[in-house]
Amino acid sequence: MSARHFLSLLDGTPDELKALIRRGIELKDLRKRGVLFEPLKNRVLGMIFEKASTRTRLSFEAGMIQLGGQAIFLSPRDTQLGRGEPVADSAIVMSSMLDAVMIRTFAHDTLVEFARHSKVPVINGLSDDLHPCQLLADMQTFHESRGDIAGKKVAWVGDGNNMCNTYIEAAMQFDFELAIACPEGYEPEARFLTQAGGRVRLVRDPREAVAGAHLVCTDVWASMGQEGEAEARLERFRPYQVDCSLLDLASPEVLFMHCLPAHRGEEVSCDLLDDPRSIAWEQAENRLHVQKALLELLIEPAYHHA
Ligand code: CP
Ligand code: NVA
Repeated sequence: MSARHFLSLLDGTPDELKALIRRGIELKDLRKRGVLFEPLKNRVLGMIFEKASTRTRLSFEAGMIQLGGQAIFLSPRDTQLGRGEPVADSAIVMSSMLDAVMIRTFAHDTLVEFARHSKVPVINGLSDDLHPCQLLADMQTFHESRGDIAGKKVAWVGDGNNMCNTYIEAAMQFDFELAIACPEGYEPEARFLTQAGGRVRLVRDPREAVAGAHLVCTDVWASMGQEGEAEARLERFRPYQVDCSLLDLASPEVLFMHCLPAHRGEEVSCDLLDDPRSIAWEQAENRLHVQKALLELLIEPAYHHA
């Protein structure tokens, strides 16, 4: 039987994704109550990072340890991947020793190629196209504060990047309306927009996107790999900063999220993360809980469905 991978939110059904979020909430409760739960004893996760990370590395590593297993950090600089060993060959070898592999990479095709040759589950820890683990955490965080997101209005303000693409997939899977406000030339790729149909609307004015929104999200203006464009982007994106007065135009119930790391004074005003409407810290913590649910589903589904 070939392994089950999680490269995109579309790799699960809407019901499976909702179950992951419910399980994330349960595992969070177990941890808060100090209950030991170690279904992944002797299991090992390999983590390949071609890009920097704080939250993704910590949450997967801590999560594996808490579930009774271990995680190994692999940087291309110190492995043969960085010296040109083919992705397919690396996948065959690594997956013969590991129980799952998490990869943070540039080209999404690297993940697809690795998964094609891997005997064990492969998890997307961020690619240039998608960041599905982050969206699981975002959806758990919204659910904890406001319940079901189905039918709600979500606004994405800023770059049409990997996070924005993943919000488009989330709109399809979790059934919400998404308004994206981005400057001309920085839209998400058409293939993501097309598949989402009428649920997703593209506008230029951030005020139009956030009007009546129950959730407002943004992300950095220059993603990892775009450092050379940072200066030019700073100018282009200036009208897209999210601040308290922009949130005032949303629903009175609005919540604000940012996957972090944030650049205070750029995509968010200096005070926004400290506004009571911001739940970015809870959002970051939930990476741990919901990814534990994901690891359990992919590595020991019997526990997940217990
Ligand atoms: N949000 C997120 O993925 O953070 P890191 O880059 O720190 O992993
Ligand atoms: N869009 C950002 C997300 C970081 C978690 C990046 O790719 O750098």
